[in-house]
Amino acid sequence: MKVLHELLDRELHDSGGVGAYPSYCQHLRAAFEDDPPPYSQAWYGDAFRNLSSNPFWLIQCLISNAAKEASGALELWQLAGGVADDRIRSLLKQHAVDESGHSVMYISLVDTIFPDAVSKEQRRELLAVSPRLKLDDEVPASEPLETDFIIDQVVQINLGEFRTRLHQLLMEPVIRAICSKERSRKMDAILRILAREERNHLRYTTGLLNDWCESGHSNYVGDLVRRRSSFFNRLTMAEVGEQRFAVS
Ligand SMILES: [Fe+2]
Ligand SMILES: [Fe+2]
Repeated sequence: MKVLHELLDRELHDSGGVGAYPSYCQHLRAAFEDDPPPYSQAWYGDAFRNLSSNPFWLIQCLISNAAKEASGALELWQLAGGVADDRIRSLLKQHAVDESGHSVMYISLVDTIFPDAVSKEQRRELLAVSPRLKLDDEVPASEPLETDFIIDQVVQINLGEFRTRLHQLLMEPVIRAICSKERSRKMDAILRILAREERNHLRYTTGLLNDWCESGHSNYVGDLVRRRSSFFNRLTMAEVGEQRFAVS
C-alpha cells in the first residue's frame, strides 16, 4: 500500500512525515497491506469523478457532508466530556469545534459553486444543521472513560480523517473545474481552511496513537487498527454501492 503510505507522508509533512510517528504508522501500513482500502484504488477515484460530473449528485453530496460534519462534531463533543486528560480533552474539543464549522462551510460551498441551487429559506434550514459549537462552551461532564475505549475511538477517528483527506483531494479538482471565476476566491478560501483543518485532525490523532504505541499500548493499537480498518473498508464498499461518497 505504497500509495497510501506516501499520501500519509505528504499529509504529515509539516510535522516530519510518517518518520515522526514510526510506531503507529507501521501498524497502519501493515493494516493497509493486509486488507487494502477501496479508497486507495484507481477505480474508486474514477467512480467518484464519474458521479460528481452530475451537479445534482454533487450538491446532494455536499449537503449530506454538512450533516455528517454536524453529527461528527456532536460525537466528538460528547467524547471530550468523558476524557480526563486535559490535553486530549482540549484536542477533541477543538476538533469538535472545527467539524461544527465545516458543516457551515459545506453549505457555503454549495452556495458558492451553485449560486442558484438553494433558496434563502432552504439555506437557512440547511445551516440549522450545524451545532455551532464554540471553544468557550463547556463539554458535557461524564464519568471518565477507560483509556482502551478512548484509544479505540481515536483509531476510528484517525482512519476516518485519512479517508476524508483523500476524498477532499478527489473533490478539489472537480469543484475547481465547475466554479465560476468570480467566485473562485471564496471557493479557494473554503477549500484551504477545510484542507488545513482536516490535515490537523489527521496529525494530532496520529500523534496521540503514536504516543500510546510508545507507552505500552502498541499491541493493542496494532490489533485495533487492523480490525477497524477492515471494518471501515466494508463500510466504504457499502457506501459506494449506494453511490455515496462521504467527502467528510
Ligand atoms: Fe471535517
Ligand atoms: Fe476532520
